[in-house]
Amino acid sequence: MDLFDKITKNWGPLGKWSRMGHGYFFFPKLEGRISNKMIFKGEEMLVWSANNYLGLADHPEVRKADADAAAEYGMASPMGSRMMSGNTDFHEQLEAELSDFVGKEKTILLNYGYQGMVSAIDCLVDRHDVIVYDSESHACIVDGVRLHQGKRFVYPHNNIENLEKQLARAKAITDETNGGILVITEGVFGMAGDLSKLKEITALKSKFNFRLFVDDAHGFGTMGKTGAGTGEHHGVQDQVDIYFGTFAKAMASIGAFISSEADIIGYLRYNSRSQIYAKTLPMPLVIGALKRLELLRTKPELRENLWKITNALQDGLRKEGFDLGNTESCVTPVYISGGLPEASNLIVDLRQNHKIFCSIVVYPVVPKDTIMLRVIPTAIHTLENVEYTVEAFKSIKKKLKAGLYSKKEMAVGITGDQL
Ligand SMILES: Cc1ncc(COP(=O)(O)O)c(C=O)c1O
Repeated sequence: MDLFDKITKNWGPLGKWSRMGHGYFFFPKLEGRISNKMIFKGEEMLVWSANNYLGLADHPEVRKADADAAAEYGMASPMGSRMMSGNTDFHEQLEAELSDFVGKEKTILLNYGYQGMVSAIDCLVDRHDVIVYDSESHACIVDGVRLHQGKRFVYPHNNIENLEKQLARAKAITDETNGGILVITEGVFGMAGDLSKLKEITALKSKFNFRLFVDDAHGFGTMGKTGAGTGEHHGVQDQVDIYFGTFAKAMASIGAFISSEADIIGYLRYNSRSQIYAKTLPMPLVIGALKRLELLRTKPELRENLWKITNALQDGLRKEGFDLGNTESCVTPVYISGGLPEASNLIVDLRQNHKIFCSIVVYPVVPKDTIMLRVIPTAIHTLENVEYTVEAFKSIKKKLKAGLYSKKEMAVGITGDQL
């Protein structure tokens, strides 16, 4: 069998839909400045699918800091990996400020969160150690776990009773191998918006000797009194041994970081392959992140606005009988029943007729015959945006119930090829 033949015949679980939805359901182009309204296929849409939680993407101070840094340093500087020739005072200043913000001794910057997470998991454990992780962990955690040469146990999502069982299995093994145990979970689960049960998880530390790694991509900047994340929200930040945050969500940028004890960060600096063998974060991203962190710290009104919009949206939808699952964060999943024809017709209707752009998630990410509309509020949405959206969702729910989306062809008279 020729390798390319095999690939051309099967583009994988998402790729198989490409003919029907490329450019519309997948790889859509949202144009214009990043805001609550953007242009999709030439039309202005109310956008609920950007992880621009605090609205920093187009904040004038952020735009100026980014532009000034790019004018001063260009995008190339500094050259090389951090370890070889890519270290600067700005990188170290950002690390120090992040440590201070999340209440940890030291921080290492990561050039991308995904790679950083994969590498961090890889270098923290060896074959004598056991990883125990939540079943709904982000792909970067799953990929990091895949590199692990020792045992790994997965516990059903947020099931603490089962976690305890997996920890007992892990302990039996590490007693033999003289290894350690690493528990990994997301802080805010990025798809469903529910929180990991950090209080219950950390309470198990007295019974089992493990270290806790929290991927708080969606919690950093949005959760907790100061925005320091899900650990702060639960009052157990000091029990989180390794804290991961990305700049890609609340900071609306690129890059990420891990914070922990000084020794652990030192070890990661000298062993994390995705950082040693890859180029450092460019200066505009570092200086831009310093500005974003400053705003995150000094402008609590950004987080207050985000939560005002989040609460209005979630309350409004719940009042209308929508199922939002167990979200306790800004991530707002709206679960409705229906299969693929319903999901695609409904999204077309939302975009064509209501001018609302949000993401849609179907099986296998959610159970069969369930559609999840993933709505991401931000600090720059308005209460009018919320009201309008709740009304639009009511209307699509009615049409869904009446079976209007169940036909094979698109409800609004458009077929996949015309999209
Ligand atoms: C939970 C979670 N972890 C990690 C990442 C990866 O971060 P980055 O975009 O910085 O690579 C993401 C998403 O982007 C995420 O949602």
